Amino acid sequence: MKEHHADWKKIRALFPAAEEFVYLNAAEGSPISIPAAEEGKRFYDEMVAHGDTVWEEWLKRKEVVREKVARFIGADKEEVAFTLNTSHGMNLTAHILQGKGKGDVLTMEDEFPSTTLPWLNLNYKVRFVKPKSSVYTLPNIEKEIGSGTKILLTSYVQYASGFKQNLENCGKLCKDHGLHFVVNATQAMGAMPVNVKQAGIDFMVFSSLKWPMAGYGIGVLYINQKMLRGIKFPVVGWQSLENPDLMDNKQLDIREEASAIESGCPHFPNIFALGGALDLLNSLGQQPIQKRIYQLNSYLVDKLKDLGIEIVSPLVKKHRSGITVIKVRQAEALVKELWKRKVIVSARGEGIRISLHIYNNQQDILRFIEELRDLLE
Ligand SMILES: Cc1ncc(COP(=O)(O)O)c(C=O)c1O
Repeated sequence: MKEHHADWKKIRALFPAAEEFVYLNAAEGSPISIPAAEEGKRFYDEMVAHGDTVWEEWLKRKEVVREKVARFIGADKEEVAFTLNTSHGMNLTAHILQGKGKGDVLTMEDEFPSTTLPWLNLNYKVRFVKPKSSVYTLPNIEKEIGSGTKILLTSYVQYASGFKQNLENCGKLCKDHGLHFVVNATQAMGAMPVNVKQAGIDFMVFSSLKWPMAGYGIGVLYINQKMLRGIKFPVVGWQSLENPDLMDNKQLDIREEASAIESGCPHFPNIFALGGALDLLNSLGQQPIQKRIYQLNSYLVDKLKDLGIEIVSPLVKKHRSGITVIKVRQAEALVKELWKRKVIVSARGEGIRISLHIYNNQQDILRFIEELRDLLE
C-alpha cells in the first residue's frame, strides 16, 4: 500500500481499542493490532495442536522476523538481536562496551531511567547535557565532550518532552570525536524513520510496546558489525554457539553475530507479534506513517492554541515526534479524570503527554480538546 492509497479508516479498524477509547497514549503503550496479535496467537495454536514438533519451523520464522527488523532499520541481519525490552538491551550494551575499554558517558538531562541506569550501575562516569527549552543542540552537546568521554548516549525521541534528535548529525559528531554512539529509539521506532547505517549508530535499543504496536516482551538490540568483531558477549548459552545442535559444553565457539546474545530458547510469540506488526508498518511505509502523524500533530497544535494552552514540545519540524507535551497544572488529577471519560493520555514532564499514532484521527483530537476544555473550566 503506497502513501496515496493509505486508508487510515481501515488501519484504525485493526485496532479495536482505538474505538473503545480516545487512545492518545502510544508513548506509554499502544494497543496491539489484530494482525500482530494473530501472529503471536498462531504460535500458541500450533503449540496446542502440535506441541514442540514445530520447533524447527519456529526457528526459521524467527529468522524471517530478524530479516524484517534488519531491513526496517537499515541493518544487516547479523547485527540484530531480540531482547525483552529497552532496559535489557541497554544493560547488554553497557556490559559490551565495558569489555571494550569503557570510558565516560555523555547523555541528556531528561533521559528515561532505562537509558542511564545500566551505565551508572556499572560505575561508568555519566555526565548530563542540559537542554534549552527541551532542545539539545549539537554545539551544546559538543561543548560537554571531555577528554574522558568515550560514549554518546541519547534517545532518538525524549519521552518527557517529545524532542527528536537529529541522529545523523550526532553520528557525525561521534565520528569527529571518536565516540561510540548509543541510541535508545523506544519513543520513535515505528513512528519516525531510522537508518542505523546512515546515522553511524554503534548500538541501538528499543522495545516494541509503544510505536511498533507489537505488545510487551519484545525489544531489539542492534550491534554494528564493527562492534561485533572480537566481541566478548556478557551472556551466552547453547543458542550462542556457531552450531547449537552440537551441544558442545567445552568450547566457547560463539557466533560473532548479535543473536548470540539471545543465549537460550527464544520468546517465540513475542518475536512473531513483532513480525506481524512490522508487516503492517511496511505495508504503509515509514515516511507516510511519519507524515500522517505530523498531520494529526498540526491539527492538535491548532486546537491547543485555540484553547490557549502552552506547548512544551519543540514545534519546529526537525524536532517534532509523535509526542506533544502541554503545560498544565495538576496534570495527574486531570489525566485521571480524562481516563474516566475514556480519553487515554499520561502525566509526564511539565504536564500532559499526548501521543498520536496511525490508529488516531481528528475526531479523537476533538474529543480530547472538548474534555480538556470542560475539565479546565
Ligand atoms: C525512552 C524510553 N525508553 C524505555 C522505556 C521503557 O523501558 P523498558 O522497555 O525497559 O520497559 C520507556 C517508557 O516506558 C521510554 O520512554
